[in-house]
Amino acid sequence: MRDPLRLHKYLSQCGIASRRKAEELIQQGKVQVNGRTVTDMGIKIIPEENIITCDGFAVVPQTKMLYILLNKPKGYVTTMADPQGRPIVTSLLKDIHERLFPVGRLDIDTEGALILTNDGNLAQKIQHPSHETTKTYEAMVAGHPHRSQLAQLEKGIVLEGKLTAPAKVFARKTTQHSTLIEIIIHEGRKRQVRKMFEAINHPVLHLKRIAYGKLFLHKLPIGKYRLLGPRDIENIFL
Ligand code: URA
Repeated sequence: MRDPLRLHKYLSQCGIASRRKAEELIQQGKVQVNGRTVTDMGIKIIPEENIITCDGFAVVPQTKMLYILLNKPKGYVTTMADPQGRPIVTSLLKDIHERLFPVGRLDIDTEGALILTNDGNLAQKIQHPSHETTKTYEAMVAGHPHRSQLAQLEKGIVLEGKLTAPAKVFARKTTQHSTLIEIIIHEGRKRQVRKMFEAINHPVLHLKRIAYGKLFLHKLPIGKYRLLGPRDIENIFL
């Protein structure tokens, strides 16, 4: 017997988007099963028997999985399209013909490490809270936060009514009016690092993600990318 599969999982396995984004595509009425638009999130399909389309294109399983680490420049959005016409990160992937999607997000004004892939399962694994995948950021913040304030960020602070998970925070360098701080978190709330520093009255002036787990950007130039191999993928979860 052929096994039924949740529609958003199938879309993700076919490299259309992460599972979360695939759910959004369904909700937005962009997905058809046998020619009929479905918006029911719970729907199951049988891949061998149903014809699935998204934005009018057939959704078929990917054979080649690709993993890329991009050093995202400021000014680029990490969505797959932008109604305001701002540049999108995938436009930087000049010689890649597969449809890749970003794993998680980086704000338009944040630069640094961004993984792109067509492997929905890996994207799901990186983002799933149970794996607690760490992300390391370098934040240049205004002024000189006191040690007790950094300790507060480490323990967790309430943002929008919810306590942040424990973090690691290291002051790396001070200049006259700013401090370079390395912060390691494993949550992915919207603008989380910026909000954490706003909460202690030391707003972020510049933000860069330098690693997922132990997968570091190192010397990858801004706007450039490299293919990831199995060892790199392992490093994400260390
Ligand atoms: N935290 C932020 O504030 N912005 C990002 O882009 C990522 C993490």
